[in-house]
Amino acid sequence: MEVVTPYLCKYKGYIFAVGLTTPEYIDSLQTFKIRDSDIFLVTYPKSGTVWTQQILTLLCESDCSDEVVYDNNLEKMPWLEYPKGHSDYASRPSPRLFASHLTPTLMPPGLKGKKAKIVYVMRNPKDNAVSYFHFCHSWVALETPSTFEDFMGQYLAGVVGGASWFDHIREWYSKRDQYDILFLRYEDMVKDLRAEVLKISTFLGKNLDSSAIDRVTERATFKNMKKDPKANYEFLPSDVLDREKGHFLRKGIVGDWKNTFTVAQSERFDQVFQERMKDLPLEFIWAID
Ligand code: A3P
Repeated sequence: MEVVTPYLCKYKGYIFAVGLTTPEYIDSLQTFKIRDSDIFLVTYPKSGTVWTQQILTLLCESDCSDEVVYDNNLEKMPWLEYPKGHSDYASRPSPRLFASHLTPTLMPPGLKGKKAKIVYVMRNPKDNAVSYFHFCHSWVALETPSTFEDFMGQYLAGVVGGASWFDHIREWYSKRDQYDILFLRYEDMVKDLRAEVLKISTFLGKNLDSSAIDRVTERATFKNMKKDPKANYEFLPSDVLDREKGHFLRKGIVGDWKNTFTVAQSERFDQVFQERMKDLPLEFIWAID
């Protein structure tokens, strides 16, 4: 891996936090055996991953009622790109659930041809950047940015874990025809969580009745997830997540960027956004009235 900063390294165009994975492990994903029943959650960091992880885990719970009970959502839905926990993947019961921040190039090629299902969640990049800025304070392995101005520069340049938000969205969106993929927006989940839960459930081919959808929705609200020890990631050790400095479930709202960006920063961000996204027919929601 090429060293980018003391905290970040680069491999095949993607940026990883130092120490979590190896080039050999990432390359080994090229021969990772996909099952038709596999379900992948893919996001750029800070786009609503743990939220959607909770929804997917709950939606699949009934499939595996007589199977292994996992302590938390991280164990139930491990990270594809990190070797930790991978030793039992071949023997896990179906449907297997995986989370990933990787780009299509680094993902198992077996996903193409619409074999497994992928849920991809995106979030407007201003809220995404603010969420990421706060996260860098509590995630011990990442450098704490001195100012938001500094962090925004790194974010726009793609020198953060996960590399460039723009590239991530572009790569997944432009290759969407190769995959069985559902695109969701974080903001739609905030606006109408039940509708998005139903959308995911239908995409997964589940035939859940209305009260089951209600139950999943209820357990995926910000308030309930915040106190759910299987879902809120507070189970991470303090040398990984410094709870004095922040939490995965921070605010959970749309438009928080307005409390952080200056007018000049917002204009600069808009300019880059327009340049980088002008040929993509995607709409983002920047605020909810
Ligand atoms: P904020 O930092 O803006 O609050 P990820 O899981 O990809 O790291 O994303 C974390 C973001 O998702 C955080 O955003 C977090 O609060 C938000 N989030 C997590 N669970 C949520 C929920 N149930 N409802 C709304 N937002 C949620």
